[in-house]
Amino acid sequence: MSLPEHLRAVITGGASGLGRALAVEVAARGGRVLVADLDEAGSEETLRLVREAGAHGSFTRCDVRDPQQVASLLDAADERMGGVDLIANNAGVAVSGKVGEIGLDDWRWIVDINQWGVIYGCHTFVPRFVAQGRGYVLNVASAAGLLSAPQMAPYNVTKAAVVALSETLHAELAGTGVKVSVLCPTFFKTNIMNAARGPAEHGGLANKLMERSRVQAPDVAREALDAVGAGRLYVVPMTDGRMMWRVKRALPEAYVRLVAWADKRRPVTGA
Ligand SMILES: NC(=O)c1ccc[n+]([C@@H]2O[C@H](COP(=O)([O-])OP(=O)(O)OC[C@H]3O[C@@H](n4cnc5c(N)ncnc54)[C@H](O)[C@@H]3O)[C@@H](O)[C@H]2O)c1
Repeated sequence: MSLPEHLRAVITGGASGLGRALAVEVAARGGRVLVADLDEAGSEETLRLVREAGAHGSFTRCDVRDPQQVASLLDAADERMGGVDLIANNAGVAVSGKVGEIGLDDWRWIVDINQWGVIYGCHTFVPRFVAQGRGYVLNVASAAGLLSAPQMAPYNVTKAAVVALSETLHAELAGTGVKVSVLCPTFFKTNIMNAARGPAEHGGLANKLMERSRVQAPDVAREALDAVGAGRLYVVPMTDGRMMWRVKRALPEAYVRLVAWADKRRPVTGA
């Protein structure tokens, strides 16, 4: 089943980074977007790029921590686009550090956005997609949700939850016409470290890894939409992520020993 010709997409966190790249990619494929974010100026810039790509888009202010604001995205999509085909639960933040040292406020902050935000998005859009017998859920997790690198437990925990939610949904929705994909990239350059919480040196290292990546946001967005159209559950766009995930599945105990060994030699952190 390929994507509808005039895909109507709701994208949370569409004001920046991957969300913006997803919006532009939807537009380039002839679709329409509703950008949902807290950042109005960033969203306006996304919409300018969407228009440049020859498509229509609009913005609605939404804090994904609030279930009512997420629920209202459905009405906004009906009003502005005459319905919805794809929800991209993309808004996310990062927290790094060690368990016991990371403040509980930072734990709550990231769980509210990365985990509850995605749960609210699925809770809102899945029943509509089931009722219409067609729809696409793209949950943005991270390779972190598969690989559990040290010094980033809050991020790993929320992203592993997104993977679990997506796997569960994929099984529950089999045969309904609704497709679920979970996106698990490693590092690529976005603004995520600007708002990230954790030791300053972690931000510096993450930014370096992001800049070094050969796969950047437009590539990730392209691969994600291809996978969504093909109904593929796991989308792991980078080679390093795919390799590490393969090693972990084949040799889980050896993998965690290797990760512990590497962590003693350098700090590991980031998106
Ligand atoms: N950049 C990476 O290396 C990387 C790697 C793997 C996964 N990801 C994931 O990609 C997704 C997008 O992040 P990004 O890297 O583009 O970062 P980004 O900071 O550039 O974009 C995130 C967007 O989410 C929005 N946002 C934050 N909190 C919000 C809230 N409460 N309600 C609504 N919007 C909110 C921000 O305003 C921003 O526009 C995240 O889920 C992130 O975890 C990023």
